[in-house]
Amino acid sequence: MRERIVYFAPADTRIKRDATSMNAPAKTDEFVAQPAAAKVPDGVYAETVLAVEHYTDHMFRFRMTRPAGFRFRSGEFAMIGLMVGDKPVYRAYSIASPSWDEELEFFSIKVPDGPLTSHLQKIKPGDTVLMRKKPTGTLVLDALTPGKRLYMFSTGTGIAPFASLIRDPETYEKFDEVILTHTCREIAELKYGFDLMEEIRNHEFLAEIVGDKLKHYPTVTREEYAYQGRITDLIDNGKLFADLGVPPLDPAVDRGMICGSTAMLKDTKERLENAGLTEGANSKPAEFVIERAFVG
Ligand code: A2P
Repeated sequence: MRERIVYFAPADTRIKRDATSMNAPAKTDEFVAQPAAAKVPDGVYAETVLAVEHYTDHMFRFRMTRPAGFRFRSGEFAMIGLMVGDKPVYRAYSIASPSWDEELEFFSIKVPDGPLTSHLQKIKPGDTVLMRKKPTGTLVLDALTPGKRLYMFSTGTGIAPFASLIRDPETYEKFDEVILTHTCREIAELKYGFDLMEEIRNHEFLAEIVGDKLKHYPTVTREEYAYQGRITDLIDNGKLFADLGVPPLDPAVDRGMICGSTAMLKDTKERLENAGLTEGANSKPAEFVIERAFVG
């Protein structure tokens, strides 16, 4: 039987995808890499942008070709860059696509005078994006000890590594229940998360693998919405658990991953530690992990 994915948010609060805004050409050889190969630094990949979707004035996602031989674990990040003048400028980006995907996806903020994002936000299909060869990161399944329920706590574009992990079948082999919390200032910033849920629900093989194991818990802090508040407050007052119908955090069964601003990481980590969970790493798996390379 094909099971249903559980969408926590009521249907009327979901944001419909605007199919016309997604520019998604097929992966072909028709795009010519730019700038000219001579300008690309040695030892980095130069990939072709395939699609760009702008969500708000502050957030967009893009997909690009994946180099042959580039391997990563779902949840890791890579250094992404552009030639700015004759110099490459890089920034750490969680890879938002799962490790099995033929293309790479990224979800980015737009900072008006940001050294990279002020340029990156202007990319179009056919443009060239640089990527350093070695991915890394702590938000990987291997850094967690076995458990039953996996919480992914994210704010803003911190949802990116979880966009990768919720589309990876291994996540559902290892956990019976996966809870993705996504908190943003405004409702429009939640759209990427809703699009991911819809993509999974319509996906030819993921829909069945994911079944009803995935729960999406979107909240906003600066607009009226069905679900409101910082995730830290919703942990403190128990509303998160009451809304989801799950018991409070328990180190025997619950595992966590956190990705957001520095303050959010610190405050969420404190809640998990208060509940008795300990922080792990690739070299020493434990009950929760944090991505410190993430910068908003
Ligand atoms: P708030 O609107 O109350 O600041 P930002 O864009 O500043 O990174 O914020 C993204 C989301 O993360 C916002 O909803 C924001 O709530 C929330 N947030 C910011 N700081 C924290 C924190 N220390 N703990 C939990 N959530 C936070």
